[in-house]
Amino acid sequence: MGSFDGKAGLVSGAAGGIGRATAIAFAREGAKVVVADIAAMRSQALETVALIEAAGGTAIFVPTDVAQASDAEALVAATVAAFGSLDFAFNNAGVLTTGFTADVEESAFDRIISIDLKGVWLAMKYEILYMKEHGGGAIVNTASEAGLVGTPMAGPYVAAKHAVVGLTKTAAGEYANMGIRINAIAPGAIATPMVLTLPPEAQASLIAPQPLNRFGTPEEVAEAVLFLASDKASFILGTVLSIDGGATSNAQSYDPFTSPTS
Ligand SMILES: NC(=O)c1ccc[n+]([C@@H]2O[C@H](COP(=O)([O-])OP(=O)(O)OC[C@H]3O[C@@H](n4cnc5c(N)ncnc54)[C@H](O)[C@@H]3O)[C@@H](O)[C@H]2O)c1
Repeated sequence: MGSFDGKAGLVSGAAGGIGRATAIAFAREGAKVVVADIAAMRSQALETVALIEAAGGTAIFVPTDVAQASDAEALVAATVAAFGSLDFAFNNAGVLTTGFTADVEESAFDRIISIDLKGVWLAMKYEILYMKEHGGGAIVNTASEAGLVGTPMAGPYVAAKHAVVGLTKTAAGEYANMGIRINAIAPGAIATPMVLTLPPEAQASLIAPQPLNRFGTPEEVAEAVLFLASDKASFILGTVLSIDGGATSNAQSYDPFTSPTS
Protein backbone atom coordinates (compact mmCIF):
# COMPACT_ATOMS: atom_id res chain seq x y z
CA MET A 1 0.00 0.00 0.00
CA GLY A 2 1.39 3.37 -1.01
CA SER A 3 0.42 6.55 0.81
CA PHE A 4 -0.83 8.05 -2.50
CA ASP A 5 -2.67 5.01 -3.84
CA GLY A 6 -5.65 6.10 -5.94
CA LYS A 7 -4.49 9.72 -6.11
CA ALA A 8 -3.37 11.81 -9.05
CA GLY A 9 -1.41 15.00 -9.30
CA LEU A 10 1.09 17.11 -11.18
CA VAL A 11 4.70 18.11 -10.67
CA SER A 12 6.11 21.07 -12.60
CA GLY A 13 9.78 21.28 -13.45
CA ALA A 14 9.85 17.47 -13.38
CA ALA A 15 12.34 16.98 -16.23
CA GLY A 16 15.15 16.95 -13.68
CA GLY A 17 16.38 17.89 -10.23
CA ILE A 18 13.92 18.25 -7.38
CA GLY A 19 10.87 17.88 -9.64
CA ARG A 20 12.03 14.58 -11.12
CA ALA A 21 12.91 13.10 -7.73
CA THR A 22 9.53 14.15 -6.34
CA ALA A 23 7.54 12.85 -9.32
CA ILE A 24 9.31 9.50 -8.89
CA ALA A 25 8.58 9.49 -5.15
CA PHE A 26 4.86 10.28 -5.64
CA ALA A 27 4.61 7.47 -8.19
CA ARG A 28 6.48 5.06 -5.88
CA GLU A 29 3.75 5.77 -3.32
CA GLY A 30 1.04 4.87 -5.80
CA ALA A 31 0.09 8.22 -7.34
CA LYS A 32 -0.53 8.75 -11.02
CA VAL A 33 1.71 11.67 -11.94
CA VAL A 34 1.75 14.32 -14.65
CA VAL A 35 5.32 15.33 -15.41
CA ALA A 36 5.21 18.98 -16.52
CA ASP A 37 8.11 20.91 -18.01
CA ILE A 38 8.87 23.13 -20.99
CA ALA A 39 8.70 21.55 -24.46
CA ALA A 40 12.44 22.04 -24.91
CA MET A 41 13.00 19.58 -22.04
CA ARG A 42 10.88 16.88 -23.70
CA SER A 43 13.56 14.18 -23.79
CA GLN A 44 14.53 14.72 -20.13
CA ALA A 45 10.85 14.78 -19.13
CA LEU A 46 10.22 11.55 -21.02
CA GLU A 47 13.18 10.09 -19.13
CA THR A 48 11.38 10.92 -15.87
CA VAL A 49 8.26 9.19 -17.22
CA ALA A 50 10.37 6.16 -18.25
CA LEU A 51 11.98 5.95 -14.80
CA ILE A 52 8.52 5.97 -13.19
CA GLU A 53 7.18 3.33 -15.57
CA ALA A 54 10.25 1.14 -15.11
CA ALA A 55 9.50 1.13 -11.37
CA GLY A 56 5.91 0.05 -12.07
CA GLY A 57 4.32 3.50 -11.78
CA THR A 58 2.09 5.58 -14.03
CA ALA A 59 3.03 8.97 -15.53
CA ILE A 60 2.61 11.10 -18.62
CA PHE A 61 4.45 14.17 -19.86
CA VAL A 62 2.50 17.37 -20.52
CA PRO A 63 4.60 20.13 -22.11
CA THR A 64 3.94 23.27 -20.10
CA ASP A 65 5.33 26.76 -19.82
CA VAL A 66 4.22 27.72 -16.31
CA ALA A 67 4.46 31.41 -17.17
CA GLN A 68 1.61 31.08 -19.70
CA ALA A 69 -1.94 31.19 -18.30
CA SER A 70 -3.30 28.98 -21.09
CA ASP A 71 -0.65 26.33 -20.33
CA ALA A 72 -1.36 26.45 -16.59
CA GLU A 73 -5.07 25.97 -17.24
CA ALA A 74 -4.42 23.20 -19.78
CA LEU A 75 -2.10 21.38 -17.36
CA VAL A 76 -4.85 20.99 -14.79
CA ALA A 77 -7.31 19.93 -17.49
CA ALA A 78 -4.82 17.38 -18.88
CA THR A 79 -4.24 15.87 -15.44
CA VAL A 80 -7.97 15.45 -14.85
CA ALA A 81 -8.52 14.13 -18.38
CA ALA A 82 -5.74 11.54 -18.01
CA PHE A 83 -6.22 10.42 -14.43
CA GLY A 84 -9.69 11.55 -13.33
CA SER A 85 -8.72 14.00 -10.59
CA LEU A 86 -6.20 16.49 -9.26
CA ASP A 87 -5.53 15.54 -5.65
CA PHE A 88 -2.14 17.20 -5.28
CA ALA A 89 0.09 19.64 -7.11
CA PHE A 90 3.77 20.44 -6.65
CA ASN A 91 4.47 23.84 -8.22
CA ASN A 92 8.21 23.55 -8.50
CA ALA A 93 9.39 24.87 -11.88
CA GLY A 94 11.87 27.66 -11.49
CA VAL A 95 14.89 29.42 -12.94
CA LEU A 96 17.81 31.28 -11.40
CA THR A 97 19.69 34.27 -12.70
CA THR A 98 22.71 35.71 -10.96
CA GLY A 99 24.18 39.19 -10.79
CA PHE A 100 24.40 42.11 -8.42
CA THR A 101 21.13 43.97 -8.08
CA ALA A 102 22.14 47.01 -10.12
CA ASP A 103 23.70 44.88 -12.86
CA VAL A 104 20.71 42.64 -13.61
CA GLU A 105 19.14 43.28 -17.03
CA GLU A 106 15.46 44.24 -17.03
CA SER A 107 14.67 41.27 -19.30
CA ALA A 108 16.30 38.87 -16.81
CA PHE A 109 14.31 40.40 -13.96
CA ASP A 110 11.05 40.02 -15.91
CA ARG A 111 11.85 36.41 -16.80
CA ILE A 112 12.48 35.42 -13.20
CA ILE A 113 9.31 37.10 -11.99
CA SER A 114 7.19 35.57 -14.75
CA ILE A 115 8.41 31.99 -14.15
CA ASP A 116 9.27 31.88 -10.43
CA LEU A 117 6.44 34.08 -9.16
CA LYS A 118 3.68 34.45 -11.75
CA GLY A 119 4.13 30.79 -12.70
CA VAL A 120 3.33 29.72 -9.14
CA TRP A 121 0.35 32.06 -8.95
CA LEU A 122 -1.07 30.85 -12.29
CA ALA A 123 -0.61 27.22 -11.25
CA MET A 124 -2.34 27.79 -7.93
CA LYS A 125 -5.14 29.72 -9.61
CA TYR A 126 -6.22 26.84 -11.86
CA GLU A 127 -5.47 24.14 -9.30
CA ILE A 128 -7.59 25.93 -6.68
CA LEU A 129 -10.43 26.55 -9.14
CA TYR A 130 -10.54 22.78 -9.75
CA MET A 131 -9.95 21.64 -6.17
CA LYS A 132 -12.59 23.88 -4.58
CA GLU A 133 -15.23 22.26 -6.79
CA HIS A 134 -13.96 18.73 -6.18
CA GLY A 135 -13.54 18.27 -2.44
CA GLY A 136 -10.15 19.89 -1.89
CA GLY A 137 -6.56 18.82 -2.33
CA ALA A 138 -3.00 19.60 -1.35
CA ILE A 139 -0.66 22.10 -2.99
CA VAL A 140 3.05 22.48 -2.29
CA ASN A 141 5.00 25.39 -3.77
CA THR A 142 8.76 25.51 -4.11
CA ALA A 143 10.10 28.67 -2.48
CA SER A 144 13.73 28.61 -1.34
CA GLU A 145 16.10 29.50 1.45
CA ALA A 146 16.27 32.63 -0.72
CA GLY A 147 12.57 33.10 0.06
CA LEU A 148 13.41 33.59 3.73
CA VAL A 149 16.70 35.50 3.76
CA GLY A 150 18.66 37.69 1.38
CA THR A 151 21.15 36.02 -0.92
CA PRO A 152 23.92 37.99 -2.63
CA MET A 153 23.80 38.12 -6.44
CA ALA A 154 20.26 36.76 -6.65
CA GLY A 155 18.05 39.84 -6.14
CA PRO A 156 15.18 39.04 -8.54
CA TYR A 157 15.20 35.37 -7.50
CA VAL A 158 15.11 36.35 -3.82
CA ALA A 159 12.24 38.75 -4.51
CA ALA A 160 10.25 36.12 -6.43
CA LYS A 161 10.82 33.45 -3.79
CA HIS A 162 9.87 35.79 -0.91
CA ALA A 163 6.68 36.53 -2.87
CA VAL A 164 5.97 32.81 -3.26
CA VAL A 165 6.08 32.56 0.53
CA GLY A 166 3.56 35.40 0.82
CA LEU A 167 1.26 33.94 -1.82
CA THR A 168 1.40 30.53 -0.17
CA LYS A 169 0.44 31.89 3.25
CA THR A 170 -2.36 34.04 1.86
CA ALA A 171 -3.94 31.40 -0.39
CA ALA A 172 -3.61 28.82 2.41
CA GLY A 173 -5.72 30.98 4.68
CA GLU A 174 -8.26 31.81 1.99
CA TYR A 175 -9.05 28.23 0.93
CA ALA A 176 -8.62 26.35 4.23
CA ASN A 177 -12.38 25.99 4.61
CA MET A 178 -12.61 24.28 1.21
CA GLY A 179 -10.32 21.41 2.13
CA ILE A 180 -7.35 22.77 0.24
CA ARG A 181 -4.06 22.69 2.14
CA ILE A 182 -1.33 24.89 0.70
CA ASN A 183 2.25 24.87 1.96
CA ALA A 184 5.71 25.70 0.66
CA ILE A 185 9.18 24.26 0.94
CA ALA A 186 12.35 26.29 1.27
CA PRO A 187 15.29 24.18 0.07
CA GLY A 188 18.88 25.21 0.76
CA ALA A 189 21.70 24.12 -1.55
CA ILE A 190 20.47 20.99 -3.32
CA ALA A 191 22.52 18.99 -5.82
CA THR A 192 20.58 19.64 -9.04
CA PRO A 193 21.50 20.99 -12.48
CA MET A 194 20.49 24.48 -11.27
CA VAL A 195 23.42 24.69 -8.84
CA LEU A 196 25.83 22.06 -10.15
CA THR A 197 26.24 24.20 -13.30
CA LEU A 198 27.44 27.18 -11.22
CA PRO A 199 31.20 27.83 -10.89
CA PRO A 200 32.85 25.84 -8.03
CA GLU A 201 33.35 28.95 -5.88
CA ALA A 202 29.64 29.84 -6.19
CA GLN A 203 28.72 26.27 -5.20
CA ALA A 204 31.01 26.50 -2.16
CA SER A 205 29.43 29.77 -1.04
CA LEU A 206 25.96 28.19 -1.30
CA ILE A 207 26.95 25.36 1.03
CA ALA A 208 28.89 27.57 3.44
CA PRO A 209 25.92 28.76 5.57
CA GLN A 210 24.70 25.20 6.20
CA PRO A 211 25.74 23.53 9.49
CA LEU A 212 25.23 20.29 7.55
CA ASN A 213 28.14 21.18 5.30
CA ARG A 214 27.10 19.39 2.12
CA PHE A 215 24.58 19.60 -0.70
CA GLY A 216 21.15 18.20 0.08
CA THR A 217 19.82 15.65 -2.37
CA PRO A 218 16.68 16.01 -4.51
CA GLU A 219 15.40 12.84 -2.81
CA GLU A 220 15.67 14.49 0.62
CA VAL A 221 13.53 17.34 -0.67
CA ALA A 222 11.05 14.92 -2.24
CA GLU A 223 10.38 13.23 1.11
CA ALA A 224 9.42 16.58 2.65
CA VAL A 225 7.11 17.41 -0.27
CA LEU A 226 5.36 14.05 -0.01
CA PHE A 227 4.84 14.59 3.70
CA LEU A 228 3.29 18.03 3.18
CA ALA A 229 1.06 16.72 0.38
CA SER A 230 -0.05 13.68 2.41
CA ASP A 231 -2.82 13.24 4.93
CA LYS A 232 -0.10 12.94 7.61
CA ALA A 233 0.17 16.74 7.32
CA SER A 234 -3.58 17.24 7.74
CA PHE A 235 -3.21 20.10 10.28
CA ILE A 236 -0.29 21.81 8.52
CA LEU A 237 -1.24 24.76 6.37
CA GLY A 238 0.47 27.95 5.23
CA THR A 239 3.82 26.78 6.52
CA VAL A 240 7.22 27.08 4.87
CA LEU A 241 9.29 24.01 5.59
CA SER A 242 13.04 24.61 5.44
CA ILE A 243 15.10 21.77 3.99
CA ASP A 244 18.41 23.55 4.20
CA GLY A 245 20.83 21.70 6.47
CA GLY A 246 20.17 24.30 9.16
CA ALA A 247 21.19 27.36 7.12
CA THR A 248 18.31 29.67 8.00
CA SER A 249 18.21 28.66 11.66
CA ASN A 250 21.82 29.65 12.31
CA ALA A 251 23.40 33.08 12.15
CA GLN A 252 26.83 31.52 11.80
CA SER A 253 28.34 29.64 8.89
CA TYR A 254 29.60 26.10 9.31
CA ASP A 255 32.85 26.24 11.25
CA PRO A 256 34.58 23.14 12.68
CA PHE A 257 35.75 25.35 15.58
CA THR A 258 32.16 25.75 16.83
CA SER A 259 31.22 22.08 16.50
CA PRO A 260 32.02 19.49 19.18
CA THR A 261 34.55 16.84 18.25
CA SER A 262 33.35 14.29 20.78
N1 LIG B 1 18.79 23.39 -6.31
C1 LIG B 1 18.73 24.22 -5.29
O1 LIG B 1 19.72 24.41 -4.55
C2 LIG B 1 17.46 24.96 -5.00
C3 LIG B 1 17.36 25.64 -3.79
C4 LIG B 1 16.20 26.31 -3.46
C5 LIG B 1 15.13 26.29 -4.35
N2 LIG B 1 15.24 25.64 -5.54
C6 LIG B 1 14.09 25.65 -6.42
O2 LIG B 1 13.72 24.32 -6.71
C7 LIG B 1 13.00 24.28 -7.93
C8 LIG B 1 13.56 23.18 -8.79
O3 LIG B 1 14.87 23.51 -9.15
P1 LIG B 1 16.05 22.44 -9.31
O4 LIG B 1 17.08 22.78 -8.34
O5 LIG B 1 15.49 21.07 -9.35
O6 LIG B 1 16.63 22.89 -10.71
P2 LIG B 1 16.46 22.32 -12.18
O7 LIG B 1 17.01 23.37 -13.06
O8 LIG B 1 16.99 20.94 -12.24
O9 LIG B 1 14.87 22.19 -12.36
C9 LIG B 1 14.05 23.25 -12.73
C10 LIG B 1 13.10 22.74 -13.80
O10 LIG B 1 12.15 23.77 -14.10
C11 LIG B 1 11.93 23.76 -15.49
N3 LIG B 1 11.42 25.03 -15.96
C12 LIG B 1 12.09 26.20 -16.11
N4 LIG B 1 11.28 27.14 -16.62
C13 LIG B 1 10.08 26.55 -16.80
C14 LIG B 1 8.83 27.01 -17.31
N5 LIG B 1 8.67 28.27 -17.73
N6 LIG B 1 7.80 26.15 -17.34
C15 LIG B 1 7.95 24.87 -16.92
N7 LIG B 1 9.10 24.38 -16.44
C16 LIG B 1 10.14 25.22 -16.38
C17 LIG B 1 13.32 23.46 -16.06
O11 LIG B 1 13.25 23.03 -17.41
C18 LIG B 1 13.82 22.41 -15.11
O12 LIG B 1 13.51 21.09 -15.53
C19 LIG B 1 13.11 25.69 -8.52
O13 LIG B 1 11.93 26.41 -8.25
C20 LIG B 1 14.28 26.28 -7.76
O14 LIG B 1 14.21 27.68 -7.71
C21 LIG B 1 16.38 24.96 -5.88
